[in-house]
Amino acid sequence: MLLSRNLQSLRSASFAPMYAFQVKQMLGGRRFRGAQRNKYLINSFDTMAQSFDTDYRIKRARIIAEEINKRINVSDKSNVLEFGCGTGLITTNLIENINNLALVDSSEGMLEQLKAKLSNISVNKQITVYNDLFSTDLALYTYDLIYSSMVLHHIKSIGLFAQRFSKLLCQNGTLCIIDLLPVDKDYHINEPDFEGYDGFEPKWLMNQLESNGFVQKQYNVIYTGTKEINGKVIEYSLFILIATKSNN
Ligand SMILES: C[S@@+](CC[C@H](N)C(=O)[O-])C[C@H]1O[C@@H](n2cnc3c(N)ncnc32)[C@H](O)[C@@H]1O
Repeated sequence: MLLSRNLQSLRSASFAPMYAFQVKQMLGGRRFRGAQRNKYLINSFDTMAQSFDTDYRIKRARIIAEEINKRINVSDKSNVLEFGCGTGLITTNLIENINNLALVDSSEGMLEQLKAKLSNISVNKQITVYNDLFSTDLALYTYDLIYSSMVLHHIKSIGLFAQRFSKLLCQNGTLCIIDLLPVDKDYHINEPDFEGYDGFEPKWLMNQLESNGFVQKQYNVIYTGTKEINGKVIEYSLFILIATKSNN
């Protein structure tokens, strides 16, 4: 009921009949109660969602999308998934070349912003939004490409997610990770629920991926920026790591 109401409001919000663009929403089939529900649904990203799209992040997302485009022929991929899509900053720069897209993010606040944005994109696309990478509906398909920007360092159990990426990708499918190199621990000091990594040593991350059936194809540092946190300027760099699911 909730699902169809959401769908209805999305469709009626802005779609002129000429657009076959369609957004479906899958809520992952999980049920959460009490504290577990709060832990799952209320997070720093819900709080920052409305103000997430700063000029700085918009520009950085454009650069990241260009770096993806330089290395991966996105239009060749028939089924694509973005893990941790947030408000869609990366995807809106790639969407032109994607026909079937699954977008996953655990923050309801971020997904609200995303859906508002997608409603204004007038293209013929099949887009499905999920709030859980472990949703059974998501695994009804396999994907040629999974990309994820600035998400993995928020995840504790990298091995578990690497395993899931491997399950979701088709044979020889491509995994593209953009994330932080090791950074000052104050980088996340204003995110009280942060339980992840202060960046990654790429070798360590690649080992985790290799243990779950991936082979490294490319690694480059693509971006250096600064973030001011409580008056302290912190320099950080981002890498892109591209791996493929091996045949073994
Ligand atoms: C720093 S934001 C990056 C958003 C977007 N990828 C970008 O580059 O603009 C991290 C995103 O990952 C999402 N995220 C964190 N943990 C997640 C999880 N376990 N499953 C799905 N999304 C998650 C957050 O909700 C947030 O939207």
